[in-house]
Amino acid sequence: MNAIQAKAEIEQLMKVLNHHNHLYYVQNSPEISDYDFDQLLKSLEKLEKEFPEFTSVNSPTKRVGGDLTKKFQAVTHRYPMLSLSNTYSEEEIMDWENRIKKSINEEIEYVCELKYDGVAIGIRYENGQLTAAVTRGDGEKGELVTTNVRTIRTVPLQLQGDFPLDFEIRGEIFMPHEQFALLNQEREEAGEALYANPRNTASGTLKSLDSKVVSERKLDCYLYGLYGLNDLQTGHFESVLKAKEWGFRIPPPENRFIEKTNSIQGIMDFIHFWNEERNNLPFDIDGIVIKVNSYDQQRKLGFTAKSPRWAIAYKFKTNQVETLLEAVTYQVGRTGAITPVANLKPVQLGGTTVKRASLHNADQIEKLDLHLGDLVQVEKGGEIIPKIVGVNVSQRTSLERIHFIEMCPECQTELIRKEGEAQHYCPNETACPPQVKGKIAHFISRKAMNIDGLGEETIEVLFDKGLIKDISGLYHLTFDQLLDLDRMGEKSANNLLKGVEASKQISFERVLFGLGIRFVGETVAKKLAHAFGNMDALKQANFDELIDVEEIGEKIAISVQHYFQDSANLALIDRLKEIGLSFETIKKEQASAVLSGKVLVVSGTFETFSRDEIKELIERNSGKVGSSVSSKTDFLIAGANMGPAKLKTATNLGVVIISEDEFIKLIS
Ligand code: IVH
Repeated sequence: MNAIQAKAEIEQLMKVLNHHNHLYYVQNSPEISDYDFDQLLKSLEKLEKEFPEFTSVNSPTKRVGGDLTKKFQAVTHRYPMLSLSNTYSEEEIMDWENRIKKSINEEIEYVCELKYDGVAIGIRYENGQLTAAVTRGDGEKGELVTTNVRTIRTVPLQLQGDFPLDFEIRGEIFMPHEQFALLNQEREEAGEALYANPRNTASGTLKSLDSKVVSERKLDCYLYGLYGLNDLQTGHFESVLKAKEWGFRIPPPENRFIEKTNSIQGIMDFIHFWNEERNNLPFDIDGIVIKVNSYDQQRKLGFTAKSPRWAIAYKFKTNQVETLLEAVTYQVGRTGAITPVANLKPVQLGGTTVKRASLHNADQIEKLDLHLGDLVQVEKGGEIIPKIVGVNVSQRTSLERIHFIEMCPECQTELIRKEGEAQHYCPNETACPPQVKGKIAHFISRKAMNIDGLGEETIEVLFDKGLIKDISGLYHLTFDQLLDLDRMGEKSANNLLKGVEASKQISFERVLFGLGIRFVGETVAKKLAHAFGNMDALKQANFDELIDVEEIGEKIAISVQHYFQDSANLALIDRLKEIGLSFETIKKEQASAVLSGKVLVVSGTFETFSRDEIKELIERNSGKVGSSVSSKTDFLIAGANMGPAKLKTATNLGVVIISEDEFIKLIS
């Protein structure tokens, strides 16, 4: 391909990808599969690598991040970023509305909106291209976080339609609950401290110097204000609706995220509606915002020193109740971390019954000076689990202070607390039941060995029956043993055994991740596997060699060394080696040659491997992955739900069609 063709192709791919991104993230109505989207993105990536001179800063490939920032540049806002005056009282909202009516003396329309609990952002578009994104900062000056904002899929990189040539749109970046929970789950699995709430996490993430981190964290954004439109529209509501036509994801009026009304009753109705409904939203709001709609009237009302007179925020009271602390119990996590849990007299809070609240760690208990039977204040904020924020000391009747336990409640080993750490740990990693069970669950999880069909309950039963003592036990399970279990049929038993067998093909980096070494998450496992190449080299690596690896710091290095110093772990590693798990990084060139010269197309969904894993296996065994069936295709690996057209083309061309099982046989 020559440069002219490449340039045209890149532009075309960018257009197509931006269009499908918009359909998927903004309109929620994708027209192509994720797989096809990824294929297009890969083609663009490839071309951009070959012709870097045509790579645009707003290329859809920038969504995945990768660019690093040394330090965020401070920039002055073109329009100062003001804050809102706010109140917790409905009466004050009525006073505000009365003041507005008096001072304007015309028919007034109001716009009611959600008050998103995130981080404010201003995004500038020039000629339809995203050119800058600036945080609020002190309102005068903010930080330029453009590269990071480009990774947020709901923020368009390139506009469509009759957009103004230079304007700014403002909104709020936040982290949805689901994403926050997932992130904390991953952190818990890697033995890292949990994040406190979605708001702070979103704010911290947006200021990450590595845009890849931002991309992976999947922040989201709603946009609620336009600046520099030069009265293109008469009012705020109309501008927001117009912005939708340019490709922005605006708060949907059909869900009452934004609403126009001309009366105080309308405003109150909106407040009451969301006061009830806010707990059902997939993200946090901390109130609602009321704005005068007409730009003309906004100008007449003007500003105070800090905030506009034409807008006000009504803030929700936090969800808080008082209840009785009945007991404190202690949970032992997979990493041995001990979490104290407050057992409460059940109480209604924010639409759910609360029976338990997290107490985080020993310091928290100390700080609250908790006594058994205390009346405690429980609050539900952005966190999924409610927390105790205070004690009603005046009502205290009990003298029994709560002391943090000294022995593990599961295995009676003495707990340890490392210097500088808030958490207590049970050090009995290899025999403390919840730690072992947790390690098995982690080992078989999707991102590690991906062994389907073994839920936490089954692991519990297998462990309690003594059928598995650690992860190596999985490989000695028999069909009859499995069939003996409740709710395990022949088909599931077979599938499970097949999954266990197939896991021997899983790459070294994933085996390493699966071992559940503290602080060795997915990325760290990848780096270690890549740097040391095999288990023996890693086992023998000294501290200096470990911290020499990119992204490996002291904490991780110590943890890795600690793991390999434990004789029980070494024995486990030996058993796993004997079983035949991948203990070395297989370089693609060095793999088996069984598929050499063959082109294989993968289609549909599979039982044992994911589509990407099958592709990896094809390449590792010297085959080529084809994107569509053609006369050059040798094999079509057909999964479930495959399109009939593909099957027909393959049959017509005489391509050999094989199942997943046949493929596994072919390469093993
Ligand atoms: S309008 C001059 N609308 O709340 C008016 N702000 O306390 C500027 N916020 O800094 C703000 N949702 O970060 C507006 N629908 C909404 C909002 C909203 C959340 C945040 C924003 C602002 C802060 C003001």
